[in-house]
Amino acid sequence: MHPFSPGGKTRAMRSAETPEAAVLVRPATEDELDLLVEQTWSVAAEGRFIGAEVPFDRARRRARLGELLGAETSTVLVADTCAAGGPGVVGHLTVSVAPYGVADIGMLLQAGWRGRGIGRALLDAAIAWATSAGAHKMSLEVWPDNAAAIALYERAGFVVEGRKAKHYRRRNGELWDSILMGRPLP
Ligand SMILES: CC(C)(COP(=O)(O)OP(=O)(O)OC[C@H]1O[C@@H](n2cnc3c(N)ncnc32)[C@H](O)[C@@H]1OP(=O)(O)O)[C@@H](O)C(=O)NCCC(=O)NCCS
Repeated sequence: MHPFSPGGKTRAMRSAETPEAAVLVRPATEDELDLLVEQTWSVAAEGRFIGAEVPFDRARRRARLGELLGAETSTVLVADTCAAGGPGVVGHLTVSVAPYGVADIGMLLQAGWRGRGIGRALLDAAIAWATSAGAHKMSLEVWPDNAAAIALYERAGFVVEGRKAKHYRRRNGELWDSILMGRPLP
């Protein structure tokens, strides 16, 4: 069984920390996809962390998450705080392995749940998933001013591999750079 398949849940936590840092990382279920879309919407509405901007097409986003969840070469992992007395799912990560062996990831946590080790738990689970899926490398893009995300990725072994200059046109007309980061897998 895949290490993160339903029934094969893995508890990823920083046990030495406060109880709210305890989080169960597991694959999303189909009936959670609308919630994940709404959580994506609220982080996108913050306007400074992720590529998506509001308004976006919710149905299309949901369909994409469903595709990632349903395919052999990708998955959607959620951070579930239920067991720690939290409200349930507070963030998710998508990982998709390209035919050439690189696992691309994207992740977000709800405001109020950041800085407690939950991002690290999700990322560690994604690294384990991608390794067992046969990927040889993980890769991501991040905005240059996203200090928390860059710190998380560096602490997890990612290194900066490059920068796309004035690459992404935002809806307000600004052209944003992105940082490319990668991490080899065993
Ligand atoms: C980026 C994000 C996923 C990080 O998850 P998190 O749960 O907040 O991060 P963690 O608490 O697991 O911290 C991981 C490491 O980064 C460090 N870190 C976290 N926030 C930091 C900050 N603002 N500045 C410097 N370091 C920071 C922590 O100290 C920790 O290092 P440690 O393991 O050595 O203690 C989360 O903040 C988030 O969802 N932000 C909004 C969406 C987003 O930016 N998504 C990523 C897009 S590329």
